[in-house]
Amino acid sequence: KPNKDLAWSKVLVTAGGTREPIDPVRYISNRSSGKMGYALAETASNRGAEVYLVSAPTRLAVPDGVNIINVETAEQMYQAVMDLYPRMDVVIKAAAVADYRPRVVAAQKIKKNNADLVLELEKNPDILMELGKQKKHQLLVGFAAETEDLINNAREKINKKNLDMLVANDVTKTGAGFGSDTNVVNILYPDGSVEPLPLMDKLALSEVIWDKVLQLKAGKKID
Ligand code: PMT
Repeated sequence: KPNKDLAWSKVLVTAGGTREPIDPVRYISNRSSGKMGYALAETASNRGAEVYLVSAPTRLAVPDGVNIINVETAEQMYQAVMDLYPRMDVVIKAAAVADYRPRVVAAQKIKKNNADLVLELEKNPDILMELGKQKKHQLLVGFAAETEDLINNAREKINKKNLDMLVANDVTKTGAGFGSDTNVVNILYPDGSVEPLPLMDKLALSEVIWDKVLQLKAGKKID
């Protein structure tokens, strides 16, 4: 797309699934491939934005022209995102951040014995919630990955986290959510309106999301 309609903006995108270490060789994570976040970074860069991609580990190549900040844990993602936030115009949080991490990280590889093993988890910071609290001029876009009651759960997130827009994927749908090249989403706004989108390639969906961001910036929500 030759249109450089995001040339005014500095954007921060998060991508991938965080890894929460258990011991030097094991971790807890999720099924995020990073494709959704990388597609958002690539399309924004093509449209002229200055893009910062804070990424948990993925197998993907960094898109041309994108500034990459590699992180592993939710805590590291939190630090990287908060450092960048004051200078950003738009933030899109496509990463799947672990809500919990092992309370203790074993210094050595945990040995197997005859007993069962109980892993105690403590809460990670909610990065998006904190961004919502500290929001000034930024446009803040969240994702919601739900397996039930998609719209109601997503509505709760948009208000609680002070978002300007929320992209809700029903990750139980074929061709939606984790790992696939496509996604099926509903876009939600703070006034409660919901816009369902058809199954789309993640790159094509990213173009639509940036179009919506431009509409939000222009002060109108729907075309
Ligand atoms: O990476 P892919 O394989 O392409 O898959 C894409 C995706 C399914 C990961 C993506 O489309 C998506 O939905 N990302 C958000 C996944 C998620 O963690 O959703 P959630 O409903 O648990 O979290 C809601 C929002 O809060 C998200 O924007 C998340 O980044 C953010 N969050 C969550 C927990 C936390 N501790 N900090 C956060 O900032």
